[in-house]
Amino acid sequence: MTTISMTLNGQQVSADVEDRTLLVNYIRDQHSLTGTHVGCDTSQCGACVVHVNGTAVKSCTMLAAQASDANVKTIEGLAVGEELHPVQAAFKEHHGLQCGFCTPGMIMAAVAMIERHGTELDEATIRAELEGNICRCTGYHNIVKSIKAAADEMTGRSSQAAE
Ligand code: FES
Ligand code: FES
Repeated sequence: MTTISMTLNGQQVSADVEDRTLLVNYIRDQHSLTGTHVGCDTSQCGACVVHVNGTAVKSCTMLAAQASDANVKTIEGLAVGEELHPVQAAFKEHHGLQCGFCTPGMIMAAVAMIERHGTELDEATIRAELEGNICRCTGYHNIVKSIKAAADEMTGRSSQAAE
C-alpha cells in the first residue's frame, strides 16, 4: 500500500491505495466520482479522460500513485455551481451526445484542446485530436460542432460553429 495525496477538483484528498490501483479506479471507487467512465480495457476509448496538472490524460493508463501531489480535475470539477462550463453548455446546445457514455471524456479532451490551441483550433484539428476518443452513438458531427462553438465562445472568436 502507498499513501497518496492530491488536489482533486480543488479539494485536498489523501488515501492509502494498492500500488497497482489505476487512477480511474481511485477516482471512481475512493471518491465516488463516477462521471469518469471506463469504456474499454485497451486504453482506446477515451471515456476515462481527466486532467492531470492541466493535461488531458486517459486515467486508465496511469497509476493513482503516479498522480500523487498532482492537481487532478474530473468532469465533476468543470461546472461552477449550477453554471455549466462553456464546453458542457455547447454539448447540450448542439446535441453533442446521445447516450452520454463517452461525453465526460470528450468534454475533458475538448477543454484541454481549446486551452492548447486557442483561436487556432479548427475543425480538422478537432477531428485529429479526437482520435483517442470513441463515440459509439453520434457519428462525431455534433461533437465537433459543439467543440467548435465552445472554442469560439471561450476565445472570443466570432466565427460560426461548424455546420
Ligand atoms: Fe481508458 Fe477506455 S477506459 S481509454
Ligand atoms: Fe453514446 Fe458517445 S454519446 S457513446
